[in-house]
Amino acid sequence: MDRIRIVGGRKLEGTIPISGAKNAALPLMIASMLTADRLTLKNVPNLADVNLLARILRNHGVDLAVDGKRPGGSAHLGETFHLTARDIVDTTAPYEMVSRMRASFWVLGPLIARMGVAKVSLPGGCAIGTRPVDLHLQGLKALGAEIDIDRGYVLARAPKGLHGARIIFPKVSVGATHNVLLAAALAKGETVIENAAREPEVGDVADCLVKMGVRIGGIGTSTLRIQGRDRLEGAVHTVLPDRIEAGTFAMATAATGGDVTLAGARGHDLSTALDAIRRVGAEVTESDDAIRVVRNGAGLEPISIETQPFPGFPTDLQAQLMALMTRARGTSVIRETIFENRFMHVQELARLGADIQLHGDTATIKGVKALQGAPVMATDLRASVSLVIAALTAEGETTINRVYHLDRGFERLEEKLSRCGADIERLTAS
Ligand code: EPZ
Repeated sequence: MDRIRIVGGRKLEGTIPISGAKNAALPLMIASMLTADRLTLKNVPNLADVNLLARILRNHGVDLAVDGKRPGGSAHLGETFHLTARDIVDTTAPYEMVSRMRASFWVLGPLIARMGVAKVSLPGGCAIGTRPVDLHLQGLKALGAEIDIDRGYVLARAPKGLHGARIIFPKVSVGATHNVLLAAALAKGETVIENAAREPEVGDVADCLVKMGVRIGGIGTSTLRIQGRDRLEGAVHTVLPDRIEAGTFAMATAATGGDVTLAGARGHDLSTALDAIRRVGAEVTESDDAIRVVRNGAGLEPISIETQPFPGFPTDLQAQLMALMTRARGTSVIRETIFENRFMHVQELARLGADIQLHGDTATIKGVKALQGAPVMATDLRASVSLVIAALTAEGETTINRVYHLDRGFERLEEKLSRCGADIERLTAS
């Protein structure tokens, strides 16, 4: 198994190109199942999760062609995918696939909407929380799907097709919003989703559906109005930049000190996190197509934050912020309100010398003068990258094991950081 070796203590300086967003690329790829025409997606990041979803979609009959890189073309522009679901040949998403990547559960909505039938495995447990799918099922039932659960599978049927409905989600869910939005695109009449997730990735999927011929009002708000169509067209869409990747590198720069420009990043998708970084003592400037983070010598101030759905502070940056606060001048408090078990990084950060107490959903982080390098274990994706941030500031060498977690969601992480001066390398298992 690959490991990553980091020797801490170097400032980060330079420019980091921000990749396309994983959490938009995945539902956008799934949107291709809604039409027999070709959906072209540009700026798709080359990630393990994207490649796994490509395999899953191929099983359903989606034809995927990836453009070759042009000689001399920038390696940083992501890939161009052409997806064509002329015929859906299989309406089953098996446990072996869905359990490896939860977002593949989102094929449920498009399968029922287009084929009138679907058999999709329940995703099962997850390292960061129980993560039920009741809201997905509630929304799809409101659209007219008949749903049974049998031996770990969701069996869904809509013999007369789906119809529009008013759905009020009792809780904000990114995945349930995606699933219902995708299904509503092919439902008869208008669907209104209240308390919809406002995450920019939901907006990106809605923008793509509009290009495919769906009329959608309220994009970017918590009320989405979707006028379903009998048939959707093909489209060309560019995946939006990854705000979590940008926020991660912003926090890494605030942690190490230095001066880094995040090329392509959109500040307005990340304002709560950027405000937090400013409050802890880094300078952040935003322009149309970049964010610049500078910290020169000043100590880090402690902070209190709780995670919230967008536009609040994202749970996907909670672990990274905690790594940053391990060396603040005082005590920080971070409350995780989205997932009940998203603290696996705490014990690993403690191995590097961090002082963190956990009480229920709240972590109290007492800043220490220095962290010391040590062998640590990656657990989930964002927990793993928090260890990278901590290791970049630690004295001496850290090795991070099980880096396949990082490969699920960070494209060329070592290359991007080492170009900015980090001492980081991948040790490939022979
Ligand atoms: C998406 O997961 C993201 N995944 C997650 O990113 C992200 O952490 C999360 O949204 C929150 O922002 C992708 O986009 C692929 P939710 P999702 O449904 O959709 C509860 C990463 O690291 N809930 O918004 O699965 C749920 O348990 C990942 O890239 C229900 O109770 O998250 C949680 O407490 C990990 N019933 C809360 O809602 C449901 O039916 C929010 O979950 C659905 C969710």
